[in-house]
Amino acid sequence: MQDENHEEQLLEAIDYHKLPRHIAIIMDGNGRWAVERGLPRKEGHRQGMETIKEIVRNCNKLHIEVLTLFAFSTENWQRPKWEVNYLMSLPEKYFNSDLPELIEKNIRVKLIGEHEGLPGRVQKAVLDGVEKTKENTGMILNFAMNYGSRSEILQAVNNIIIDVTQNKIKSKIDENIFSNYLYTAGLTDPDLLIRTSGEIRISNFLLWQLAYSEFWFTNVYWPDFKVIHLLEAIFDYQQRKRRFGKIDS
Ligand code: FPP
Repeated sequence: MQDENHEEQLLEAIDYHKLPRHIAIIMDGNGRWAVERGLPRKEGHRQGMETIKEIVRNCNKLHIEVLTLFAFSTENWQRPKWEVNYLMSLPEKYFNSDLPELIEKNIRVKLIGEHEGLPGRVQKAVLDGVEKTKENTGMILNFAMNYGSRSEILQAVNNIIIDVTQNKIKSKIDENIFSNYLYTAGLTDPDLLIRTSGEIRISNFLLWQLAYSEFWFTNVYWPDFKVIHLLEAIFDYQQRKRRFGKIDS
C-alpha cells in the first residue's frame, strides 16, 4: 500500500519533458537473488527475464527512446557450462513469448556485441526479432549480448585503420567519426546508467558512450527491480545538474 502511494507520488513528481532519452541497465544480482531464496541460480535468471518484460513495458509507456540491457558479457563465457547454456536459452524464450507484443507496440529490437560468437539458435532468435521490428519507429530495445566495451573500441580502431588505408576516410578522426564505428552507431549516448545489486562498477560496459551519463546504483537485485525503482532512478536523474564539464551560468 505504501509502495503504491510512493509510486503514484513519483508518477506525479516526474517531469515528463525531461525524461532520459536513453537508459542503459546492468542487470545484476540474479544469482544472489536465487541463492538467498535457496533456489538454483538459473531461477534468478528466469525471474530476471520477467523483470525485463516489465521494465520494457514501462520504459515504452514512458516514451523512453532507447533502452539498452546488458544481457551477456564477453566475460560471462567463463561461467559454468550449465549456467551459460541456461542464459543462452533465454533470448529464444523471450522472443517466443514477447515478439508479437514488441511488434504491436512499435518497439524496434537492436543487438550490440559480437553476435557471430553466439550459438546459432540465439543469433536466429534475436536477429529474427531485429528483422521483424526493423520498420518500427518507437522505442529501441537494444540488447547487449556477447558484448565487451574494450573489444568494441578495438574493433572500431581496426576498422578505422582499414578505412583510412583504403582512403575511405581522409580527415582526422573526431569523436563523431569514432562513434560511428561503434556498435551503438546512430544511437544517442545513455543519459542514465542503472546498475542493480549493490555493485558500484561499470564492468566493461559502454566505456566510451557513458562519458557523460548519470549513474544510479541500487542494492535491489535485478529480479526484484520493479517500476517503482525505475521511477526513483528517473526522478533522481532529474534532480541532477548535468554540466558536461561547463560551469553554471
Ligand atoms: C547478472 O547476474 C546477470 C546476468 C549475467 C545475466 C542477465 C540476463 C538476464 C536478466 C536474462 C536475459 C534475458 C534475455 C531475454 C536476453 P549474476 O548472475 O551475475 O548475479 P550475481 O552477481 O548475484 O551472481
